[in-house]
Amino acid sequence: MTQETALLSTSPVTGEMNAPVRKVFVKTYGCQMNVYDSDRMSDALSRDGYVATDVLEEADFVLLNTCHIREKAAEKVYSELGRLRELKKEKAREGREMLIGVAGCVAQAEGNEILRRAPAVDLVIGPQTYHRLPEALKRARTGERIVETEYAIEDKFDYLPAPDKAKTRSRGVTAFLTVQEGCDKFCTFCVVPYTRGAEVSRPVAQIIAEAEKLVEAGVREITLLGQNVNAWHGVGADEREWGLGDLLRRLGEVEGVARLRYTTSHPRDMDDSLIEAHRSMAKLMPYLHLPVQSGSDRILKAMNRRHTAAEYLALVERIRTAQPDLALSGDFIVGFPGETEADFEDTLRLVEAVNYAQAFSFKYSTRPGTPGAELKDQVPEDVKAKRLERLQALLTKQQRGFAEACVGREIDVLLEKPGRLPGQLVGRSPWLQPVNVDAKASQIGDIIKVRITKAGPNSLFAEMIEEPRARSLTA
Ligand code: 5AD
Ligand code: SF4
Repeated sequence: MTQETALLSTSPVTGEMNAPVRKVFVKTYGCQMNVYDSDRMSDALSRDGYVATDVLEEADFVLLNTCHIREKAAEKVYSELGRLRELKKEKAREGREMLIGVAGCVAQAEGNEILRRAPAVDLVIGPQTYHRLPEALKRARTGERIVETEYAIEDKFDYLPAPDKAKTRSRGVTAFLTVQEGCDKFCTFCVVPYTRGAEVSRPVAQIIAEAEKLVEAGVREITLLGQNVNAWHGVGADEREWGLGDLLRRLGEVEGVARLRYTTSHPRDMDDSLIEAHRSMAKLMPYLHLPVQSGSDRILKAMNRRHTAAEYLALVERIRTAQPDLALSGDFIVGFPGETEADFEDTLRLVEAVNYAQAFSFKYSTRPGTPGAELKDQVPEDVKAKRLERLQALLTKQQRGFAEACVGREIDVLLEKPGRLPGQLVGRSPWLQPVNVDAKASQIGDIIKVRITKAGPNSLFAEMIEEPRARSLTA
């Protein structure tokens, strides 16, 4: 499952020569895959002369790329649409047109319902049909209200433009690359198999070509994305069936790729070849997001996770044996139907046993159409809230402990962007923590050696201990 973070992305795109300039405002909710998709959609629209804006009032087209993973996310979209309706009316009074589109998992799940509940919406488009967005938008401009949520027979990646060099440069030195979409696991709480559809892996050649383009545009770190990324499989150049471990090894050979990451993984798909990649590949960052959701075997079974707590712990042990420096991150759900106090305590025990560097925890929220929604024994909201508070206190303590253990260590940092203070840059540690360090703006994109001097609540502070190595050596 892809990690959810509240993200807002607007993508700078340049218009074609001679095309009328229209402005698009894209707001992205949810996971990194939505961020990736928003960028691809912006790139596709730029071919029709659309330029991205981060000023909502200027937009001729407002596109919400939505997330449906939990209840509040969809409700937030509906209230945002209410606000946009007012803006649309206001603009209409001034004689200016503003179209509104809804993309992403809420679009897929709700379809026509969005047109019914939100009369200002002109266009609804599901994640499998993004390549049809420019065409759909043209039709919407003629006054048609459009719903595109059928699963297309053609491969959207064959039609969506690859990351554009100029645009990627302005997007930074790290990039996402979707390698797999959809999920066949059917965890009983989760909407992803319904909104993103069956599991599909992109072919090796397409992925390598995209990685090469990213590197050419100055990207140094690539994060491979998939709802179930370690279920990725494909046929390699050697005609063998490849898994994610093989793909990572191949990507490690692409000149200029300095760092690789992947997210999100399912414990059932952590095979030996992938674990071996963690042992042997210096470019594969020692960080793994490996959601477990619960530490109770009874609840894991009811969630259809298809592994026990002991199996998860044994897997963690194997991965840590291969890469002792590995930091683990996880997702947790409290208050799944039927969860007792004893079940919840099993989760706390598992967390104690693993010691997470980072974690995301949620109250169970009923998703219509999922098997979990049919279960009796739903846990009262106040019980969920108390359990979440206890779990988060423990996870926060572990996260802080991990950050504090970094103080004094000498580590590599990839410098990403200007910091808050002049003369400072922010980079990322191998374990994904933001690191503040004094450095020149010209060093963005360099990997430098630093010593960690202090751990703040959300980031680390460091001093440089070595001038950057030549790019050719770090690449
Ligand atoms: N309720 C609460 N949390 C959920 N997640 C997925 N579905 C639900 C749900 N119905 C959480 C899982 C997943 C993360 C992205 O969101 O922990 O790993
Ligand atoms: Fe992840 Fe399970 Fe949802 Fe698939 S069904 S995306 S494995 S949580």
